[in-house]
Amino acid sequence: MTKKPETRHRAAARAAITGVYGYVPDDVLSNAELARLVETTDLWIVERTGIKERRILKGEGLGTSHMASAAVKGLLEKTATRPADVDLLICATTTPDLVFPSTANLVCDMVGIRNIGSFDVQAACSGFLYALTIAAQFIAAGSARKIVVVGADKMSALIDYTDRATCVLFGDGAGAVMVERAQGRHGIVDTIIRSDGAGMQFLHQKAGGSRLPPTADTVARRLHYVHQEGAAVYKVAVAKMAEVAADLIVRNKLTADEVDWLVPHQANRRIIDATAERMGIPLARVMITIHKYGNTTAATIPLCLWDYESRLKPGDKLVMAAFGGGFTWAGAYVTWCYDGDAASAA
Ligand SMILES: CC(C)(COP(=O)(O)OP(=O)(O)OC[C@H]1O[C@@H](n2cnc3c(N)ncnc32)[C@H](O)[C@@H]1OP(=O)(O)O)[C@@H](O)C(=O)NCCC(=O)NCCS
Repeated sequence: MTKKPETRHRAAARAAITGVYGYVPDDVLSNAELARLVETTDLWIVERTGIKERRILKGEGLGTSHMASAAVKGLLEKTATRPADVDLLICATTTPDLVFPSTANLVCDMVGIRNIGSFDVQAACSGFLYALTIAAQFIAAGSARKIVVVGADKMSALIDYTDRATCVLFGDGAGAVMVERAQGRHGIVDTIIRSDGAGMQFLHQKAGGSRLPPTADTVARRLHYVHQEGAAVYKVAVAKMAEVAADLIVRNKLTADEVDWLVPHQANRRIIDATAERMGIPLARVMITIHKYGNTTAATIPLCLWDYESRLKPGDKLVMAAFGGGFTWAGAYVTWCYDGDAASAA
């Protein structure tokens, strides 16, 4: 069968990321503490994943919306945006507070945003780039002026802390960006979203949804936790992250030398290194936060932008790439539109 031709999601009116903010919980879960829970060592975790610690949201009744609303509140303050001026809020999450209503609805209420459209996007670790793609389309269509995109996940709610191959990888966090019509030529130039549902077997939650609703038996069999076949996921993750980044580079007529920043999903330091190596981008130009936050699922890319914001200059060329459960994968080519140093100091 011939491959479908590539469709370019070029914006009629270009959208731009005009602000970024992040939130991580105060509680740190170190490798030493994990070594008290499961048969592992700090050395193994650092060597095999690059993770030294991750943040965990503690406190009864606190869900993903707690972190997402903190990130959105900070973003609104930093960008001097009144809640009434936001036209749309999209929340990328795989760990919603509830099956319904959506976490986006809850976040709007928590930050005082009323009477606008809001919805969740579920694409696992690629969720933020899926949501960014959707936001860019709303701006292109002229049907929204200011859109908040927040990626947030409380993975600690889904992790089996007796499964050493999975529990060391994930942490909790949230990152939010403001998406508006670009004022100049810089902004979200191109995006790609992809999926392959045949990947489900390697990474999923077996029970708790409509296929296998929760019962005492499913809980007893620990079927509500993340099931992951790490080695299989690893191989596809490297291939697809590098592929989507290479597609963006080729179709936007870039060279690897011209890319100022690779912004990869943070799942495993070895996946990040392998993706950068395949692309020929030195690690000095790769955003890395995995050592301190682990894999925060939909929050990794906005948290990277938040962490590196002070180093970003107008015109910087960013290639973002993510891979996650589904399988899903996605990429974005963005030229940065504002002085990150001035914005992060404000
Ligand atoms: C999970 C992952 C870190 C495991 O690393 P790996 O090098 O592939 O390790 P393997 O799964 O091959 O296991 C190697 C050995 O280490 C052991 N091991 C797994 N976790 C361990 C831990 N925390 N501490 C010590 N040993 C561990 C395994 O039991 C296995 O032992 P065995 O050989 O005696 O059976 C790695 O596969 C990975 O990162 N996969 C991708 C995960 C991912 O990206 N997920 C999210 C997608 S967005």
